[in-house]
Amino acid sequence: MLRTPGAVRDAERWTAHNYHPLPVVISSAEGCWLTDVDGRRYLDCLAGYSALNFGHRHPKLIEAAHAQLDRLTLTSRAFIHDQFADFCRELAKLCGKDLVLPMNTGAEAVETGIKVARKWGYQVKGVTPGQANIVVAEGNFHGRTTTIVSFSTDEDARADFGPYTPGFTVVPYGDLDALTAAIDENTVAVLLEPIQGEQGVVVPPEGYLPGVRRVCTERNVLFIADEIQSGLGRTGATFACDLAGVTPDMYLLGKALGGGIVPVSAVAADADVLGVLKPGQHGSTFGGNPLACAVATEVVRLLATGEFQQRSAELGERLHGGLQSLVGKGLVAVRGRGLWAGLDIDPALMTGRQACERLMEHGILAKDTHGSTIRLAPPLVITEEEIDHLLAQLAAVLAG
Ligand SMILES: Cc1ncc(COP(=O)(O)O)c(C=O)c1O
Repeated sequence: MLRTPGAVRDAERWTAHNYHPLPVVISSAEGCWLTDVDGRRYLDCLAGYSALNFGHRHPKLIEAAHAQLDRLTLTSRAFIHDQFADFCRELAKLCGKDLVLPMNTGAEAVETGIKVARKWGYQVKGVTPGQANIVVAEGNFHGRTTTIVSFSTDEDARADFGPYTPGFTVVPYGDLDALTAAIDENTVAVLLEPIQGEQGVVVPPEGYLPGVRRVCTERNVLFIADEIQSGLGRTGATFACDLAGVTPDMYLLGKALGGGIVPVSAVAADADVLGVLKPGQHGSTFGGNPLACAVATEVVRLLATGEFQQRSAELGERLHGGLQSLVGKGLVAVRGRGLWAGLDIDPALMTGRQACERLMEHGILAKDTHGSTIRLAPPLVITEEEIDHLLAQLAAVLAG
């Protein structure tokens, strides 16, 4: 008897329904492959929303986690532990920044960025007390806290969670004139995803990010890049900002930083920005814990070789080439960079959800977003043959 139906029912029974997962129950995984409770295998084409850039259970990351589990797991930041400095130094160097502030989830990194920008605004820029504002983009996704959903333009994410946190101005994504016009003397930061993941892997027009960088510098405004989903190799570069040749004032990182093992997020910036925080003004019990640091240091070392960025760039060409050939054959548009793609399915054929259900039957796990769009973000350890397999299964699903 199959175990999946009962396991799905049980999960539904005992949890809040804040997700609508595919009816598949995973019990083990390795590299790009997942196995369910009935022994069926699936190619993972979501990779934990890019938290599994290095695949499931990458041997070096598992080794680092095991070694650390046997020595020390938590101290809190009340004491310093021996994994802390290595992590902060190596991540700061990867980012080309002076300092790192570790947290746990992506949303916490975003909250940290907002707090730091506001404090910087009052203490360094001289913004009128209580008047700081941050310019953000339509279609953004930065997490689920009450402050972050306050400036979401997705009603599912925002409605009925007010009262909302003030101090954010929303402008159309990719429109430099609108962004420039929204900046006033109390603007402390522009907060953007260099590629909007949740929105469907939306790549801004060429020249947009360099333009944002230029305007932020001219107007003494911090450019905060939320690279939580786009960063750490996903797009074929360490950061999606690299592809546009820009360096933000602050990187927000998460997801892949924890190697798919522990939640690890971080903010990286120079001392004139992150230096505004003093003891007691920000923190987290688990942020920068020894287990997190041990795994994340190994993640940074994997990235420092450049191997994963190169894989993503090269294999991404194969993926995007194959996807482009399906435009007009069930796909209406394909966007993305590296091993990251947003596909718009012809809505006359099926919804994104239906496409993901059919892909699941073909042994491919992917995630829909916004109606007829699917995101593909396989682990960066995927091979050419596995990409070809994905493309063949997708073609079969689209052909009905
Ligand atoms: C760009 C971006 N920022 C922030 C977050 C929030 O991260 P978390 O779910 O770890 O809080 C996400 C999650 O999808 C994201 O894609």
